[in-house]
Amino acid sequence: MAEGKTTSKRVGENLLVKEVLESEYPLIKNLLKDVGYNWQFSNTSLKLGLYNEKEIIAYTEISIVLDEANIDIIAITPTYQGRGLGRFLLKESLKRLKEKGVKKVFLEVSNNNKKALGLYSKLGFKKLLERKGYYKDGSDAIVMEKKL
Ligand SMILES: CC(C)(COP(=O)(O)OP(=O)(O)OC[C@H]1O[C@@H](n2cnc3c(N)ncnc32)[C@H](O)[C@@H]1OP(=O)(O)O)[C@@H](O)C(=O)NCCC(=O)NCCS
Repeated sequence: MAEGKTTSKRVGENLLVKEVLESEYPLIKNLLKDVGYNWQFSNTSLKLGLYNEKEIIAYTEISIVLDEANIDIIAITPTYQGRGLGRFLLKESLKRLKEKGVKKVFLEVSNNNKKALGLYSKLGFKKLLERKGYYKDGSDAIVMEKKL
């Protein structure tokens, strides 16, 4: 499998994106717990981890159906947030989706999640529709789309 490599100027470490192994699922569960996700395993999605030399520091999970994909999860370990890793992982994921023949990518985000909204708009996602009061905290869900 092709692996994405880069050196992030902001992080200053060699980074690697690859599919996570089943043996790493407990690590993923912990990472996601730290950012507020209660992870439910799904065997139908693409699961990519972002690794530095020592550990897994970010994770994304993407469902693919024919030529459409949905980003179900993207999470950076809290201590590594705000250093360009979300952008790197998402760009690498979009590249892989395109290679797999995906033409449209969707995601859903709370209108309160300014960080994620900033990231998605910077990478060219456009608002498709809004679901008023969709989340438990009363915030609206913004459904976004990007054509690859
Ligand atoms: C949202 C998340 C994935 C972003 O990843 P990140 O590594 O922190 O973000 P990056 O450093 O790559 O920043 C990319 C862009 O996001 C936006 N962003 C990042 N931090 C931000 C902040 N504190 N406030 C506003 N926008 C911010 C900016 O537009 C930024 O681009 P810029 O650096 O050119 O200004 C990450 O913060 C995270 O895991 N959050 C918790 C889980 C979550 O909310 N996931 C998304 C659910 S839909």
